Amino acid sequence: NKVVLAYSGGLDTSVILAWIKEHYGCEVIAFTADVGQGDSFEGLEAKALASGASKLYVRDLKEEFLTKYAFPTLRAGAVYERKYLLGTSFARPLIASHQVEIARLEGADAVAHGCTGKGNDQVRFELTFQALAPDLKVIAPWRQWDLGGREELLEYAVARGIPVSQSKTNIYSRDQNLWHLSHEGGELEDPWQEPNEAMYQITVSPEEAPDKPVEIVIGFEQGYPVSLDGTPMGPVELVTTLNKIGGEHGVGRIDLVENRLVGMKSHGVYEQPGAAILSTAHKELESITLDRETLHYKDLVAQKYAELVYDGRWFTPLREALDAFVEVTQQPVTGEVRLKLYKGNIIPTGRKSPYSLYHEGFATFGADDVYNQADAKGFINLFGLPMKVAALAKQKREGA
Ligand code: ARG
Ligand code: SIN
Repeated sequence: NKVVLAYSGGLDTSVILAWIKEHYGCEVIAFTADVGQGDSFEGLEAKALASGASKLYVRDLKEEFLTKYAFPTLRAGAVYERKYLLGTSFARPLIASHQVEIARLEGADAVAHGCTGKGNDQVRFELTFQALAPDLKVIAPWRQWDLGGREELLEYAVARGIPVSQSKTNIYSRDQNLWHLSHEGGELEDPWQEPNEAMYQITVSPEEAPDKPVEIVIGFEQGYPVSLDGTPMGPVELVTTLNKIGGEHGVGRIDLVENRLVGMKSHGVYEQPGAAILSTAHKELESITLDRETLHYKDLVAQKYAELVYDGRWFTPLREALDAFVEVTQQPVTGEVRLKLYKGNIIPTGRKSPYSLYHEGFATFGADDVYNQADAKGFINLFGLPMKVAALAKQKREGA
């Protein structure tokens, strides 16, 4: 008899709010999470109430979003299908977890979201509900009603006096937070069609970027990014600043045909300047602080981690177990990485760490003092022994 709805104030969730109230005759509590989507929340409460909500919760989750979701995924090195840094994927369990908390606070018996029945987001919301509150009912109007497309939604809203910002002739389905901005739909539905330059919101095109590169230094502590150019910075300020600098230099744009969890391929474009910079820098620092075996194994873990996050299986024992592995690997990932941003490129130009495993004395092509080249002979003999034995056997079989 009380529903908590994940509400953005856009046309879809406004109509959903009114529809739930009308359809179920229940009280609807709206909840908006601030994850850095850049919306103004001014007038949002009035709008929610005008659409039929009994109240609106707005929670600033920016810091939690970064420290509890984005940074763990960064430390894991998780990248979905070679490119996507998962900005929307881990925002869903965060939002859904707060929705559950508010439902408990309010004694609600249901939760609702505005995701369509064709996407990943519905899965991510609902897996989180299942994991954290298996007793709550889930309402997903997009899968239930017969309102059809945008036109009908507009009519529905207008007929009920629901305030809608008409100015939005938005053809794209977008999702923005501190980690990225995604675009789907519109001309992107044809994967041969080059995206319209006007679609991009937070990055300039590499062609338009300044001719002069900018150099930045990112500091990490145990795999967490903590400073910029030697100045300690909190997560929100750091990522906001990197999005700005990166955006000005046109870095972090990706164009991806991805496999959705629900079966179909979809074409999306992501702007993820800050996240791309941090991801490049973090990998660079790991290159000097992780030993070979750990690094290679961690890349396997990263792959699995990315699938879990993409699929919305955040609140699972496996994700927690992988985090425990990652935690151990990140102990030495402290130090600094210097990067040049230039016309869409992120170019590492230096890396250092007090725990670096890199020793000039071992690697040098100059005079040897620690590495005895003669040792290599015996090593190669034993390392190649199985191949030698196999080759001898083969010669014998073939009567050579
Ligand atoms: N395809 C991306 C993902 O599944 C982005 C989804 C964006 N969601 C949205 N409601 N526009 O993570
Ligand atoms: C949606 O359908 O709500 C957006 C796309 C997605 O979830 O993948």
